[in-house]
Amino acid sequence: MGLADFVAAVEQLAADGVAAFAEAADATSVEQARVGFLGAKQGRLKQVQQLLGGLSATEKPAAGRALNEAKERLQAALEQALARTEQQASTSVARAAVDLTLPGISRALGHRHPITQTIQRLIEIMGRMGFEVAEGPEVEDEWHNFEALNIPADHPARDPLDNFYLANAGGILRLLRSQTSTVQVRVMEMHEPPIRIISLGRVYRPDEADATHFPMFHQIEGLLVARGVTMANLKTTLNDFAKSYLGSEVPIRFRPSFFPFTEPSVEVDLHWQDRWMEFGGAGMVDPAVLAAVGYDPEVFSGFAFGLGVERLCMRRHGITDIRDLYSGDVRFLRQF
Ligand code: DAH
Repeated sequence: MGLADFVAAVEQLAADGVAAFAEAADATSVEQARVGFLGAKQGRLKQVQQLLGGLSATEKPAAGRALNEAKERLQAALEQALARTEQQASTSVARAAVDLTLPGISRALGHRHPITQTIQRLIEIMGRMGFEVAEGPEVEDEWHNFEALNIPADHPARDPLDNFYLANAGGILRLLRSQTSTVQVRVMEMHEPPIRIISLGRVYRPDEADATHFPMFHQIEGLLVARGVTMANLKTTLNDFAKSYLGSEVPIRFRPSFFPFTEPSVEVDLHWQDRWMEFGGAGMVDPAVLAAVGYDPEVFSGFAFGLGVERLCMRRHGITDIRDLYSGDVRFLRQF
């Protein structure tokens, strides 16, 4: 190989290398080009350098200069490529980050389910009237769900078709509570009067789901026991409660009814779309219930109520199908 061929090969190599560095789009391809052209072992520059030995002594200085020049060009192209790809990487990081200095940027956060919001609101309203929150289990025994509430073993409300009984483990028959009135019993068993509590939670009934029924729903239970409590106290409390939550333009009414654990008993209706809709029951705590938890019915009296949280929420927000609340459809839930 003569000097001319050698110099041509070196120039070709330098031109190829410069082009490869210019084309490299990211750090990985820059590194590939570096190894391919400037690599100490297998790089193309190294390979051409090995041909230097075949040249004559007079040709060598010129050949060496050509090599050095090529090496410098390649080095310069490498540095440029590195600078370019680093800058790209940092601007794409900057683009992904949130610029906190920009005004008015808002992000849609999640929010509480409308039923949770309703529960919080009901707790707040009843809290203003002095009612404290009490908790009870969702898996109950028959004593708390029925017996202590004056619902004896042969009562139709205990029908297996109307309740979610659980497999009988350890001799105690348990069920998913069908009403939050269970918590009344639990609280009275543990505390002496005066008592003023509410309890909010899930109840379960094997109902076919339709626009106003669902096999799981929530109730707000209320209980007030003291000396000299009357039906007037109950009606005032529920009227004030309904006014606070639904607004004074929503009429409610009390209708004579029957519950085993209250005497007298009423059903509570609210007005909606030209008709009355039941949203719960209430009454004066039956003396038998007070006696079952060891209170003296001659000394103490009380009122109790149990209202459907979903129906209250639906009335307030104009929701016409209870199933929408449990569909998990975020387009529906985002409205609240
Ligand atoms: N537990 C009843 C139900 O689920 C509602 C109810 C009625 C609760 C009267 C009460 C009450 O506390 O006094 O249908």
